[in-house]
This record gives sequence, C-alpha cells and structure tokens, in this order.
Amino acid sequence: MESSEIDAIIKRYGAKESAILAILQDVQAKEKYLPKEALEYLGEKLHIPLNKIYRIATFYRAFSLKPRGRHEICVCMGTACHVRGAQRIADQMNLQLGIRPGETTEDQNFTLETVYCLGVCAAGPVVAIDGQYFGKMSPGKVEGTLKKFRSDKKEGLNGKA
Ligand code: FES
Repeated sequence: MESSEIDAIIKRYGAKESAILAILQDVQAKEKYLPKEALEYLGEKLHIPLNKIYRIATFYRAFSLKPRGRHEICVCMGTACHVRGAQRIADQMNLQLGIRPGETTEDQNFTLETVYCLGVCAAGPVVAIDGQYFGKMSPGKVEGTLKKFRSDKKEGLNGKA
C-alpha cells in the first residue's frame, strides 16, 4: 500500500489518535489485511506507539495481520447448522482447499473461517462466500460451490443464478 493512499485515509478522518480505528478499518478494507509497513507508517504519522496499534489490531476480530484470500469463506458452525452436518461441510472444505479455519490457501484465493450463526438457520447448513449465502449445503456440493469462485462466477441465495 502506497504511503499516499494511507495519507488519503488519514486525511479523511484527521491525523489524531482517536481516528485510528476508522483508519485501520479502511486499510483493512483496501488490503484485506493490515500490512506491517502500513502500521509502522500510521504509528509515525499519528504519533502512536507501534505496540499500541498492534494491541488494537489484534483485539478486533475484523482485523487480520496476515494476508487474506481474494474470497472469504465462512462455514456456519452454529447449533442449527451443526445438527444438520456443518462439521462435514467444514471437513470437506478442509479437504478441497487444504487449509483449516483461520488459514489462507497458498494461491491467496481463499480464506476459510467458521462463524456461529449467519442468521439464516432454516437454510442450514449454510456457507457464506464473500457475503453470498449457500444454503442446504452437503459435502457433495462443496466442490461445485468453490468452483464458482475459482472461475470468479458468483451465485448464491442472495445473488443471481
Ligand atoms: S446456525 Fe447456521 S445460520 Fe444460524
């Protein structure tokens, strides 16, 4: 991330310590993670000790210090999905992608996460990819669903078929 891009974000919220959370959110939204160099630059510009910025960055689950994949997969492990076989979906994701929750594939295409309710329990088990929901999932549907994102075609409960 160019320093000029960070400067533009700082300008939006003001070069003050109280703006750090909003600034980090914008950096995260742009880069999909918080690069070390960006945090160091922010520390200098806003006169905030680096360890304080890291404390904030690690406190909020929305922030990541590691690069994220282009596509974010959330397998719901909430009760309603769990009783309908969410674990088998998570296992199949693991098998197909070779990563566990919290990890990103080597080609940076996918990051796998688990969540505890996506709010559409009746459609369980549910998987969300980039915010698009796929309901009534089964291990057999995992490969086909991932394929849509491997070729960047999008389809889901709340998307167009
Ligand atoms: S428990 Fe999975 S959507 Fe609610």
